[in-house]
Amino acid sequence: MIEMVKFVDLKRLHSSLVSSFTKTLRRHILNSNFILGESVQRFEKNFSSYLGVKYAVGVNSGTDALMISLKSLGLEKGEEVIVPAFTFVSTASSVVLMGGRPVFCDIEEDTLGMDVEDLKKKITSKTKAVICVHLYGNPCNILEIKRICRKNKIFLIEDACQAHGAKVKFRGSFKFVGTFGDCGCFSFYPSKNLGALADGGMLVSSKKSIYKKALILRDCGRISKNVFLHPGFNTRLSSIQASFLDIKLRYLDEWNRRRKKIAGWYKQLLEDVPQVKIVPEEKYGECVYHLIGILTPQRDALLEFLKSKGIEVGIHYPFPLHLQPCFKYLNYKKGDFPVSEKIASSILTLPLHPYLSYKEIKYVCYQIKKFYTSKK
Ligand SMILES: Cc1ncc(COP(=O)(O)O)c(C=O)c1O
Repeated sequence: MIEMVKFVDLKRLHSSLVSSFTKTLRRHILNSNFILGESVQRFEKNFSSYLGVKYAVGVNSGTDALMISLKSLGLEKGEEVIVPAFTFVSTASSVVLMGGRPVFCDIEEDTLGMDVEDLKKKITSKTKAVICVHLYGNPCNILEIKRICRKNKIFLIEDACQAHGAKVKFRGSFKFVGTFGDCGCFSFYPSKNLGALADGGMLVSSKKSIYKKALILRDCGRISKNVFLHPGFNTRLSSIQASFLDIKLRYLDEWNRRRKKIAGWYKQLLEDVPQVKIVPEEKYGECVYHLIGILTPQRDALLEFLKSKGIEVGIHYPFPLHLQPCFKYLNYKKGDFPVSEKIASSILTLPLHPYLSYKEIKYVCYQIKKFYTSKK
């Protein structure tokens, strides 16, 4: 008998790793190794090797990775950066914090990635960069977005904060998302596919000049012990977290495979429910299912029903960014981004973590079906 299905279950994920974490923590305490140093360098090397990208800079969060990317690319006051209207707030707020102006762009309903036709319309002489997002772990139309950026001589930042390990077919083999743009940004927030036991993030790039700037910017603008080139941030990835992440990186592919399998169960078991449409669709590459959602017009009622059955569900995200109070000054209005608005009002995200059993997924789908049969 199932009483509860958790949305994310870090306790279950970490249970077999507790003794490795404890040994590592002990080593850090005994060596007094807390800030930068060997463990951060090792994880940067391992993460960049995993992705097949030249450089990686560990920072304190995905938000910081986005801010440092913008600063490293030389964003200046008032310059525009095109971002999707449907994503986590940091994709756009990082632009504001770095002095730029976010310009919103609609998304595709099936992939949740940036709509390239709308993107083309949003480019002006003031556009400095595009930040595309691989939302829910699903690759967006990155090859086309890259082509558009190159043609218009604008920088491309990939927000891969939800997409560790997602990949796209490129020149006959696979290439990881986050490695196509000038910069790729990752979050290690604990519930991410690769999560630390605290906040954390990473900026990756294949360009040495960006790497060098980012290294300086993450450490107070420091170029040597007591010399600071320009004002910088204090956003160094914790040494202890870098070691924890190194342990978890070994399991990333296995965990992603399990997520994909679970997504497959949802698709199969909900196939015959006409009231729900599963997103995202894998159109441009392999999704790592950080999240999976259903689009349904009776979202709020279904949410309450599933909660009453012990099923933890979420809404990622209930409001598109152009309607958030923090972007009111940009003067967008309801109706400006119809797809983003539709998804925000009809998306429901379902439990998805590597240790969910078939029995649990069957129970969730059974309750979804029950809700719709009772509505007939
Ligand atoms: C798409 C996206 N961008 C940026 C971020 C920000 O990452 P962090 O929470 O590590 O600052 C997140 C985190 O949820 C995210 O999902």
